[in-house]
Amino acid sequence: MSALFEPYTLRDLTVPNRVWMPPMCQYSAAPEGPTTGAPNDWHFAHYAARAAGGTGLIIVEATAVSPEGRISPYDLGIWNDTQVEAFRRITRFLVSQGTVPAIQLGHGGRKASTDRPWKGGAPVGPDAYGWQPLGPSPVGFDENHPVPTELTVDGIKEIVGQFADAARRALDAGFEIAEIHGAHGYLVGEFLSPHSNRRTDAYGGSYENRVRFALEVVDAVREVWPDDKPLFFRISATDWLEENGWTADDTVRFAAELTAHGVDLLDVSTGGNASGVRIPVGPGYQVPFAARVKAETSMAVAAVGLITDVEQAEKIVANGEADAVLLGRELLRNPSWARHAARELGGDVHVPDQYHRSV
Ligand SMILES: Cc1cc2nc3c(=O)[nH]c(=O)nc-3n(C[C@H](O)[C@H](O)[C@H](O)COP(=O)(O)O)c2cc1C
Repeated sequence: MSALFEPYTLRDLTVPNRVWMPPMCQYSAAPEGPTTGAPNDWHFAHYAARAAGGTGLIIVEATAVSPEGRISPYDLGIWNDTQVEAFRRITRFLVSQGTVPAIQLGHGGRKASTDRPWKGGAPVGPDAYGWQPLGPSPVGFDENHPVPTELTVDGIKEIVGQFADAARRALDAGFEIAEIHGAHGYLVGEFLSPHSNRRTDAYGGSYENRVRFALEVVDAVREVWPDDKPLFFRISATDWLEENGWTADDTVRFAAELTAHGVDLLDVSTGGNASGVRIPVGPGYQVPFAARVKAETSMAVAAVGLITDVEQAEKIVANGEADAVLLGRELLRNPSWARHAARELGGDVHVPDQYHRSV
């Protein structure tokens, strides 16, 4: 029996297999007008193909809790009812294929208001639909990024409320799982790390102060997210800095706290908060960070990062390094990766009736 194709239950929700899709921005929503931030035909086709391909769970890309929380003007958002209605078409289709629909809720913080990566990804101003970004401290990501406006405590509370509103809307849109984006140097992650958080009030300084905003977001979301539905948190397990960064030890400590606050699974990524760091990128390079959280806490984990090969993925789950694997770019290349893997491993996977002749 293949470990990758064993169903997995969290709270009252059973995911049919352990081949999952991580959030991947498509930068394809309208940047202005009545459908700003709403998913469109591109998003539908993109997510539908991976669901028809047997992916057990799909985490819809970073979706902003407010207009200025978008990473680019072309990001998805979930701050109004037009967006909710457009998401329903996607969640309905995913559910029809047996795929669990999840959504990543995020705020771009000091790295918001940038262009699409294929246009260079540089910060953009009002002439290109951009805006002035917000952050924990007036420290830019690097010399090319603007200095963000330092959030006041009222501003922080407002964003906590926006996360709760976004979660309420995500539920209304048919999502079964919400994931809080605490990784890659966006707003929640910026508060966690002393590299980006230089505050001297209750939200900065000590470890306890730096995690305060993240825990307030978690509590606010958990309060509106039903008890029978799982909540995920994506973290950058390390900033990859030699000093004065968020570390793997911090991640293990924080994972235990997140469990106490009602988070069910930690989605373990790394990096994105500090420019110019050296990252030893290679097959499965982030798996040890997930495995450590799994070994040292009771938190469930998903591993991500250059997991592309069937045997490699099967081993990560079979060895107990992670409860599930997330395949990003590999699923962009091959939407039916789960079906191929199931064939190789002898696992059960959903095949649409329309494709029965290809089983
Ligand atoms: C096009 C693209 C968009 C991405 N957008 C997001 C995102 O919205 N949220 C996020 O947490 N990570 C994002 N990521 C990171 C992926 O979720 C994943 O962690 C990363 O690609 C490593 O996994 P892989 O080697 O399987 O691709 C993105 C990656 C790609 C390639």
